Amino acid sequence: YLLYPLAALIGYLAGSIPFGLLMTRAAGVGDIRQIGSGNIGATNVLRTGRKDLALATLLLDSLKAGLVALGFGVLSGPEAGLIAGASAFVGHCYPVWLGFKGGKGVATFAGLLPFVSLPAFYVAAPVWLAIFAITRISSLAALTAAVLVAPGAWFVEELQHRPHNWFVLSGLAVLSAFVFWTHRTNLGRLLKGTEPRFGSSKAKPD
Ligand code: G3P
Repeated sequence: YLLYPLAALIGYLAGSIPFGLLMTRAAGVGDIRQIGSGNIGATNVLRTGRKDLALATLLLDSLKAGLVALGFGVLSGPEAGLIAGASAFVGHCYPVWLGFKGGKGVATFAGLLPFVSLPAFYVAAPVWLAIFAITRISSLAALTAAVLVAPGAWFVEELQHRPHNWFVLSGLAVLSAFVFWTHRTNLGRLLKGTEPRFGSSKAKPD
């Protein structure tokens, strides 16, 4: 248990590195917070037209959560891995360096899943991809996948006759609820039917 506060601190610090902002700035694209949705994540970096930077943002934002989840998971088990990964998610959404105005946590959530709950990853990743492929709306894909993370993991564990880790399952459910909170403006646009799709001429929200 002594490792838990350390997992939270290191997770938060790793998660609070805003790769999308740093890379778009370094590439001379401008301040990503003034573009599109204003979000610092891979989806909004894609709106700059720089697929390479968007992919790098997705990978690095996922990795920062994945690495701490993996590291603390190996050191002390899935609970510590979840605490580290969840803290990276929180660090990404509320980075101290950006006045606590960060991203929406989708890539960090995806990054911690394989190391905390492989069954959850097996459900969430194809759901995200399928909904995005069908609708071309990143937020809708994220919200749908988020709903299914914890119940999906539970269901796959049932199918495999594996024991449930209720600490991990409830932690994942809390993170999913958090994703709805970070997407509250997206949710409003989705309900009004004004959330932009990729590939349409109205690719820029707000
Ligand atoms: O990963 C965040 C995504 O779900 C929504 O991003 O920029 O469309 O608000 P954005």
